[in-house]
Amino acid sequence: MYRILEARNLAGNIYEMVVEAPFVSRRCLPGQFIIAKLDEEAERIPLTICDYDREKGTITIVFQPVGVSTHKYVSLHEGDSFEDFVGPLGVPSDLCTEPLEEVKKKKILFVAGGVGTAPVYPQAKWLHEHGIECDVIIGAKSKDFVILEDEMSKVANVFVTTDDGSYGRSGMVTKCIEDLIAEGHEYDHCVAIGPMIMMKFCCLTTKKYGIPTIVSMNPIMVDGTGMCGACRLIVGDEIKFACVDGPEFDGHKVDFDAAMKRATLYKTDEGRAMLKYQEGETHHGGCGQCGGDK
Ligand code: NAD
Ligand code: FES
Repeated sequence: MYRILEARNLAGNIYEMVVEAPFVSRRCLPGQFIIAKLDEEAERIPLTICDYDREKGTITIVFQPVGVSTHKYVSLHEGDSFEDFVGPLGVPSDLCTEPLEEVKKKKILFVAGGVGTAPVYPQAKWLHEHGIECDVIIGAKSKDFVILEDEMSKVANVFVTTDDGSYGRSGMVTKCIEDLIAEGHEYDHCVAIGPMIMMKFCCLTTKKYGIPTIVSMNPIMVDGTGMCGACRLIVGDEIKFACVDGPEFDGHKVDFDAAMKRATLYKTDEGRAMLKYQEGETHHGGCGQCGGDK
């Protein structure tokens, strides 16, 4: 069992938990994720690691209740436990695995949208710990939805922008990218993490300025094991699975429109059967749960 040591509401319907998971915390790197399972009957939920403490043996996760399982998470308190907490899974962020001297040459901009601020935090923290400064745009609908500003400000130069202008700068993150560049900031590497639509438009913006951009395709993951096929996406002319090949990819090569359309189709039995029919052998890793197998 994996004990919950802290549970708190961060903002709006965004929650944070610190979980005792020494095996994961000893091995994880920014960009990786875990799969949580509350009990025998519960579904498996893949969640990006938002912080880790190797000495205390803890992992911090941030989530928004969307389905039955994550709604159950909201009622969990300090002292409760997850039956399973598996990880670290996925490929770590390139920034944490490339030679440090190469990373030090980069002028890095993170774009963190809403809940996507949480997976940006460990990357900015890791860079800071290795003597590399970066800029972070935190975007939120309004002041009440801004998360982790204090924590992020300790490890990066933070620019907060809200869609309604109730706090920080005004407008979406894409406007903030344009404004920072117009103000003289220069970037040669961008990492955008947030809703799919945000990542799509961030990539369109950075492409104009020739700034290579990495995105995290965590939102399309379902079981996180390479079996269900939910996270299939097109990157350039290749088919990839976010949970085993990612979750981070070259955003300028990701076909966001296809990924968003597919995620909608994947929600129904009929949609999954259609995907199986259209995609044939490249559909999934063989879970046998899509209607097309029957
Ligand atoms: P949100 O809807 O509040 O959006 C966050 C910010 O994204 C906005 O403030 C805005 O600045 C920007 N944005 C939204 N639409 C945009 C557009 N069309 N053009 C430019 N910028 C735009 O976000 P939220 O409700 O906190 O996010 C929830 C979503 O985030 C879920 O779908 C979840 O799957 C996703 N998420 C993604 C990751 C990841 O790894 N990519 C991690 C956690 C959550
Ligand atoms: Fe199921 Fe990737 S989430 S295959």
